[in-house]
Amino acid sequence: MIKKKLFNRKVKAPSALKPLAKSFIKRLKPGSVVLLKGELGAGKTTFVKAICNELSIDPNEVKSPSYTLINEYENLSLSENCEIKTIYHIDLYRLPDSSELDGLGLSDYIENDNSSSIVLIEWADCALEYLYRTSKFLYLVDIAIEESSRNFLIYSLT
Ligand SMILES: Nc1ncnc2c1ncn2[C@@H]1O[C@H](COP(=O)(O)OP(=O)(O)OP(=O)(O)O)[C@@H](O)[C@H]1O
Ligand SMILES: [Mg+2]
Repeated sequence: MIKKKLFNRKVKAPSALKPLAKSFIKRLKPGSVVLLKGELGAGKTTFVKAICNELSIDPNEVKSPSYTLINEYENLSLSENCEIKTIYHIDLYRLPDSSELDGLGLSDYIENDNSSSIVLIEWADCALEYLYRTSKFLYLVDIAIEESSRNFLIYSLT
């Protein structure tokens, strides 16, 4: 497996995520899948909010998908010169086991018409084998909790 480090940044507060979100989005092509790793409360959903905010989506619209499993956000901004139109935000924490993945229809978001979408996944452990096999552009965002801040390590895996 290729593992290329793209960013290593300390972020002191959610409000300070903007520069990292901005730089990271520049690396993302449509069809990208982003694995968000980090313990409970590490800031995975908060990072998705920051990314969505850069894509002209109201951050208040971005809610944790821990019960819905999948949330979909549309980048409706016509002024933004950006190829990413749809963001699928997935959280598999409550998925009973990997045999339920088929029922979730993950392949609809990953393999089918993904020419204008990205997929961001929290707690993807049970789907890793599938995601490694099927994703053309795969990234890992590994968030470590430090006293009052977070350390972000971001890798490209493809
Ligand atoms: N960079 C940061 N610096 C300091 N605090 C942060 C940072 N990012 C997020 N937090 C705080 O961490 C808390 C949890 O964030 P969040 O819900 O995003 O975590 P999560 O990793 O998605 O958790 P879960 O695994 O439960 O889904 C929030 O209260 C948020 O304000
Ligand atoms: Mg979360």
